[in-house]
Amino acid sequence: MTLRDLFGIELPIVQAPMAGVQASALAIAVSNAGGLGSLPCAMLGPEAMGKELEAVAAGTSRPYNVNFFCHVPPRPDAAREAAWRAALAPFFAEFGIDPAAIPAGAGRNPFSAEAAEILGRFRPAVVSFHFGLPEAGLLARVKSWGAKVVGCATTVEEAVWLEAHGADAIVAQGLEAGGHRGIFLTDDLTTQVGTFALVPQVVRRVGVPVIAAGGIADSRGVAAALALGAAGVQVGTAYLLCPEATTTAIHRAALKSEASRHTALTNLITGRPARGILNRLMREVGPMSDAPPQFPLATAAIAPLRAKAEAKGSGDFSPLWSGENATGCREAPAAEVTRELAKGIRAAR
Ligand SMILES: Cc1cc2nc3c(=O)[nH]c(=O)nc-3n(C[C@H](O)[C@H](O)[C@H](O)COP(=O)(O)O)c2cc1C
Repeated sequence: MTLRDLFGIELPIVQAPMAGVQASALAIAVSNAGGLGSLPCAMLGPEAMGKELEAVAAGTSRPYNVNFFCHVPPRPDAAREAAWRAALAPFFAEFGIDPAAIPAGAGRNPFSAEAAEILGRFRPAVVSFHFGLPEAGLLARVKSWGAKVVGCATTVEEAVWLEAHGADAIVAQGLEAGGHRGIFLTDDLTTQVGTFALVPQVVRRVGVPVIAAGGIADSRGVAAALALGAAGVQVGTAYLLCPEATTTAIHRAALKSEASRHTALTNLITGRPARGILNRLMREVGPMSDAPPQFPLATAAIAPLRAKAEAKGSGDFSPLWSGENATGCREAPAAEVTRELAKGIRAAR
């Protein structure tokens, strides 16, 4: 089955949902260009989610994707939080921050009955999930609207699990990918492999269409992914400089600089491994560490450091999420980036 048939789209190009750096505008632009635009909801409360969904529904009559996280919220651990804040004490002192006065972080919300209720008013053609899938009852509700469900796999085992639990298509997320790794069956990072290795292995093991993600930055990358057996691609980093994205000026500057050549996985910013451009926090405390509280609780302690540093124009404590290949980043409208990527489809044919 092609993505064209499964999702009702013209081009098998999915704009990766990217919480924190985009809202409805990017999704609308890509869907209207014939790809599949995505609205990330992990950082949106119910009201903001309703508003953004209304904007997408008004902005395009084409299919679009709505994306959620599916993590199990952790129980707060006061001892771990205190130890983490103690580890960050020199930074708090440097910026004049009282660690006892830091509020709980905005965090990230998993898909819930409340979110399903709101989503039901819009019935998007596609709903995608990161960190596994929601529980069976909630998933059945999403499917009852006729929505196609997409899950994200970082290993062959996760792909097989997602297909067995009802995914209609699978994003195979290679190690090159920017942002959070979708890893959910294990926390062993030695299981994580690159896109070129992952895609053909997943294609061999599942019957549903596979969407390649990670390091795909231009039309040649798209052609390569299709040659490996992918039915389509999911591209994130290459859209980060588009005017429709809400990427901060600091993040944009980092993406445009030579610093973008050096990314790493870090769990310091949210508690889960995510790929970003190396910054001072990652260099001096990590980039990986056993100390941060569980996802998404780790966001709280970093937030005031990020705010203080950003006020001075520095990304030293910011999530500068990026994949390993930022060469596709262009300050061009998202429709143009999509059309450029689409040249790889014709090349593959
Ligand atoms: C800034 C940023 C934010 C991201 N946020 C999300 C998200 O909210 N949900 C999600 O499923 N994936 C998220 N991802 C991962 C993407 O879905 C995708 O796997 C990745 O962008 C593909 O690799 P690339 O960045 O090399 O194109 C994010 C990626 C980036 C770069």
